[in-house]
Order: sequence, then structure tokens, then C-alpha cells
Amino acid sequence: MSEDGKGRTVELRYDGGEQTFPLLTGSEGDQAIDVKNLLSGASMTTLDPGFGNTASCRSEITYIDGAAGILRYRGYPIQELAKHSSFLEVAYLVIRGELPSPGDLKEFGEQLSANAGIPAEMSALLDALPRNGHPMTLLAAAVNTLAAYYADSVDPKDDQQVETATIRLLAKLPTIAAHIYRRSVGEEPIAPDPSLDYVGNLLHMLFGDGSGDSELDALYAKALDLLLLLHADHELNCSTATVRVVGSSDADIYGSVSAGINALFGPLHGGANQAVLEMLEEIRDLGGDIDSFLAKVKDKESKTRLMGFGHRVYKNFDPRSREIKGLAADILARQEEPDELFALALELEGKALADSYFTDRKLYPNVDFYSGVIYRAMGFPTNMFTVLFALGRLPGWIAHWREQRKDPATRIARPRQLYTGPTERSYPGQG
Ligand code: MLT
Repeated sequence: MSEDGKGRTVELRYDGGEQTFPLLTGSEGDQAIDVKNLLSGASMTTLDPGFGNTASCRSEITYIDGAAGILRYRGYPIQELAKHSSFLEVAYLVIRGELPSPGDLKEFGEQLSANAGIPAEMSALLDALPRNGHPMTLLAAAVNTLAAYYADSVDPKDDQQVETATIRLLAKLPTIAAHIYRRSVGEEPIAPDPSLDYVGNLLHMLFGDGSGDSELDALYAKALDLLLLLHADHELNCSTATVRVVGSSDADIYGSVSAGINALFGPLHGGANQAVLEMLEEIRDLGGDIDSFLAKVKDKESKTRLMGFGHRVYKNFDPRSREIKGLAADILARQEEPDELFALALELEGKALADSYFTDRKLYPNVDFYSGVIYRAMGFPTNMFTVLFALGRLPGWIAHWREQRKDPATRIARPRQLYTGPTERSYPGQG
């Protein structure tokens, strides 16, 4: 991190005083006013709902330029990683800071295979949870209990324990997710197969022996690997910020990640790809009339929203959506019947991008627009879409939790508020 060494500052003048703040510059030129002494100096705070203007930490993991549509993990453009790397390599990169050598990657994969099993008691616990519960609720609960099953790896101050917990989380989350899925569809869970690679094993635990068409299975494995890779980190999105907030109290990594899973479950965050699919189904059920659907979206009286378009950070294409669109086309070309929802998605995207109403508002397709269509084509029920997002986002959560713990500037997260409630008043009948 190259911080501004030129001693640049920002002046704040207000009734009754003035204060000078350091102006910090990140390695890509982004600037941040360091306001940590504002309250002690000027006795005032900043009000920033949703933290849209607040950098709560320094981070070296992911760079996003929302205006230019740029996303890089540890400096590598997402497009290059998508072309040359696997999810496992990217998980290693995001967590450890450098791409693995072939030997490192082999060792990493072997460690994960060796740790993929879950204790029999945990399996029994998963079997005792409601079969019809949402898989995200069950996943968050199960991940929280890892701290109880593996109490020898919960100390955030012990490097070796953190390392052990990192491997356990990466290794066991697919097994837990697949167990939850199999039970939800009334099937017996399938044990991990250590001879398979990370994504191959995940597909095996989810769907068993595959479709019998080895080319199609290979395409699905490639697709799932790419989708996980594209979701691996996204700087301080809601779930990652949650993992950091929980971790800032020195909570263990399992509990912090469990909190992140719950944050991701929200329809405004990880649940959005499910909402896109529901929107496409609604358009299909209304006769596939995109023009009248878009007219409803533009109508201020109507509550209809264009799901999968627009992003808090990207004011241009979400670079992940371009990669996913290509993938969706490859997968859907293999379907026996043309996919109606994919055709509708393409038409909807084309019409929205040709309409200045949407482009003026910087509404471009985001990562969720095509991912649900692919997951559906692969045979996943909609309630598993967010679980797959969680499996992809896990390296990012782990990396941020680990980075925060090594950052000397870390303090327990404790925002302030602007109090707007009643001023002091007397208890009824007393004054
Ligand atoms: C994500 O990948 O987490 C989503 O795009 C949401 C976000 O970054 O705010």
C-alpha cells in the first residue's frame, strides 16, 4: 500500500473552528480523508448511511474501479484469472496474496481433500435440522457449530490455529452444503471422494455419478469452477463487511463466516440471482412481452423492478457479468430444448441497454443477471443459488478476516449514531 507521502491534507472549517485531516492515497490513486480524529477534535461525527462513502480499513486484496468496470484480485484482472486459473488457485491467491506454484497448489488440494469429511455427530446434527429449511439458514447454523466440533482452532491470535481453521472451512463447506442439498431433495448424502479435485468433488457430492455424458459433466465442472472463481471476493460488500465486523471483536473465524453467510442470504445481496430468475419466469408467464415489462419498470407508480441490473459500486458493466454471459451461452447451447428464460434474458438485456432510461441511470447487467440461468440449467433448485455464492465467496471472507487480524490499525467495529429521539423528559406522573 503506497500511502500519500506528500503530507497532503484536507481542511474542515465549521462554526467555531477548523481542523486539518491527512489525505491518504491508495496504491491505485484512490483518496481517503482520514477522519479518525474528527470526534476528538471537532466533537462531530460523519453521517453515512450504508457506509457508501466510508472506507473502514486498508486492504490489499481486491481492487474495484466501479466507473471503469475493473475488478482485480491481488492485482490480477478478473478476466485473466478466469482464463488461466482455477477456483482453487484463486482461493489460494486471495487468501495468501500470491498465486501458488504447481507444488503449492498440489499440497493445498491435498490438504483440502484430507479434511473434507465431517464428524458423524455433525452429520447427525444436519440430519436433525428441518429438511425443508432454507439451505442458507442450515449452512449458517452448521458453520457456526464448526467452532464447537473443532475447538482446537478457534483462537484468532494463534497463527497455526487460524491456518488449520482456514483449511477446515474451505474443505468442509462443500461437504456441508452438499449434505444439506441431498437431504432437501430426499437423497442420501454422498461422502467426499479424495481422488477428485475441489469442484469435481463438489459436483460428485451434489449429484453423484453425473449425467453419463462426460463432455457435459466436464462443461458443468468448468462452469461451476468459473462461477465460484468470479465470486471469490468483492472487497467490502455486505457479507464481507459483516465478517470483518464480527471478527473485529476477536470472535472466531467460524462464527464470523457464519455471520457472513447470514448477511449473504438477504435478497438484496446474495439472493439477487434467485430474484432474477423469478422475474424472468414472471415475464414468461405474462406472455414474454419484454416491452410492457420494461414500461412497468419505468412507471413510477409500479413497484416492478429490473432485477440483476445496476450495482452499488459499478456504474458501468459488472466485469463478472460479461464472463458469465459467455458461459451461459456455452451451457445453454448444450441443452436439448432451447432455454426460454435464457432467450428472455438476452432480449431483456438488449432492450434495456438500448434504452437511455436505463443507461442514463447507469443500470447495466450485474453478476446476478446470468448466474441463476446457468445454475438452473445445471439442475440446481433456486434455493441453492445463494449457497453456491457462499462457496465462491468463502476465500474472500477468510482473506479479509485474516488481513484484519494482522492489521495494527484494527479496532473493534463501533460506529456512532446521530441521535434523533426524544430529549430528556420526566417519567409519567413524576414531574
Ligand atoms: C458481491 O459480489 O458481493 C455483490 O456484487 C455485492 C457487492 O459487491 O456489494
